[in-house]
Amino acid sequence: MCGIVGYVGKQSALGVVVDGLKRLEYRGYDSAGVAVLDRAGDLSVVRRAGKLANLTEALAADDPARLSGTLGIGHTRWATHGAPTDHNAHPHVDCTAAIAVVHNGTLENYLELRAGLEDRGHTLRSETDTEVVAHLIEERYDGDLAATVRSVCADLDGSYVLVVAHRDHPDRVVGARRNLPLVAGLGDGESFLASDVTAFIAHTRKARAIEQDHFVELCRDGITVTDASGTQVEGGEFHVDWDISAAEKSGYEYFMLKEIDEQPEAVRETIGGRLDQSGRIRLDELALSDRDVQEMTQVVVAGCGSAYHSGMVAKYAIERWARLPVHVEIASEFRYRDPVLDRRTLVVAISQSGETADTLEAIRHARRQDVPVLAVTNTVGSSVARESDAAFYTRGGPEIAVASTKAVMTQLAAVYLVGLYLAQVRGYRSTEEVRSHFFDLEQTPALIAEVLARMDPVRKLAREIAGNERVLFLGRHVGYPMALEGALKLKELAYISAEGFPAGEIKHGPIALVDKDTPVVVIAPRHALTPKLVTNVQEIRARGARTIVIATDGDDSLVPHADDLIRVPDTKSLLSPLLTLVPMQVLAAEFAVARGLDVDQPRNLAKSVTVE
Ligand code: F6R
Repeated sequence: MCGIVGYVGKQSALGVVVDGLKRLEYRGYDSAGVAVLDRAGDLSVVRRAGKLANLTEALAADDPARLSGTLGIGHTRWATHGAPTDHNAHPHVDCTAAIAVVHNGTLENYLELRAGLEDRGHTLRSETDTEVVAHLIEERYDGDLAATVRSVCADLDGSYVLVVAHRDHPDRVVGARRNLPLVAGLGDGESFLASDVTAFIAHTRKARAIEQDHFVELCRDGITVTDASGTQVEGGEFHVDWDISAAEKSGYEYFMLKEIDEQPEAVRETIGGRLDQSGRIRLDELALSDRDVQEMTQVVVAGCGSAYHSGMVAKYAIERWARLPVHVEIASEFRYRDPVLDRRTLVVAISQSGETADTLEAIRHARRQDVPVLAVTNTVGSSVARESDAAFYTRGGPEIAVASTKAVMTQLAAVYLVGLYLAQVRGYRSTEEVRSHFFDLEQTPALIAEVLARMDPVRKLAREIAGNERVLFLGRHVGYPMALEGALKLKELAYISAEGFPAGEIKHGPIALVDKDTPVVVIAPRHALTPKLVTNVQEIRARGARTIVIATDGDDSLVPHADDLIRVPDTKSLLSPLLTLVPMQVLAAEFAVARGLDVDQPRNLAKSVTVE
């Protein structure tokens, strides 16, 4: 939930850390802080409630000498324990201000630890769970900072990434990781630690993910990683392909608007290189033999929020193309239900961040039962990728806006590929048929670009309806998960009541919500079910609602019943979510802009939901 940066090197630590925090602000943005080891050998700590801009203002007004140094740590917070105030913001220090700690995660036994510390005479100044760590280090410190952090972590229950600086160590920062992401950046004479690589890719593309329950010592000339016993562990470095401009706004007012526009390219990246010379789909990552795939009896797709909606689309595609039963699971419910799994099940875990705690737990639950897990994720080296048997990287590039757009779009493209691959190997579709569906998929980036070029009337429409407090979304077949997704986007961004329903269900209850102040968005791409939608839309219009219909070019069946018509180009109905999703993203973003809301950082949300 929070963003963490650590640096030791040759540049001004303050500049590097604050710059890194700016790129991580999507992870949490209710308070922020830094600690810099200054030239006099003191740890200078500055913390502010509110957005990062409040911190940078305070830093600008501070004494520059106090903040000049080449070792620093920083944090942007999403509050869990204690309100988002200055004194609860990280870094937290011990009684002597010799140690500064930033923390992502939650410590379940902090109350007990705090009581013990207070009994032993420590004064704790915040309401956070984190502060106990600084005081425990203070108590146990014997000159070896890394060993002390290892010893303290042995007594912590919960999840954490901790990054620690000590006044006596101008040459090192120590990090620890359990259940949450931590990645090191390896530069020339400088090293970085961060919650994700976007924080340091301006400086280095060489990175190494810190594994579960490992500890890292960050020095100017490199890093040392150890396990809980202090034994050094080797690990793979990787190269980050994303360039810095991909993580900047490039003139857009909001990242989300930029990311919506990047979708054609993102989908192209997802599906690129997936057809071999003989015209067969390649999914080498899956690492299952053809026989395993042929003997598979079911697929379980797990995800949260928008990823769950992508999973719902996967069900339509895989069942239709590969004739395999698919169960779509909300990850937070999945493992508590004792689901029926066996080795002939494939679990597909979808997560753009690759760090969602609920999805990770679903993966662990499956793998404990020897069930193979395929991760579909946008984040290379993420926990979801590492803990699964195989990872299908969606290659969508960094997504900074908290509400997911292009990452969802690429998840859709990815699950279509998984469906086609399973169909191909199981022999339910001929090579020609699979190839023909793949060619349809290959056309979609150009069609998404066409939809994007038609969005001006949708922006106008969003401004017109931005005064409404409720919007409904209806769809059938693959339009149904898109109705849920459209409603989720609007809810997240505009804080209004927005609900998605299968259109056929409306008369079983939800129609009671319909009135003249409730615009209804109907997702109606050309499909055998469109005539049935005509009846549903008539029923709604008869109750005075404004009907906003997303329809395929050339299909006029809903025209007489639409107050507003949004056209998308023709494609196979199964692939239509790739097109119908776009106007709903634009509608939600513009609706929020019209209400003067922050589209990139909606209230109460975080990009990476690392708590259960
Ligand atoms: C919606 C949104 C969330 C995420 C959900 C899962 O815009 O962003 O609903 O889809 O929190 O996140 P990931 O995909 O990172 O597992």
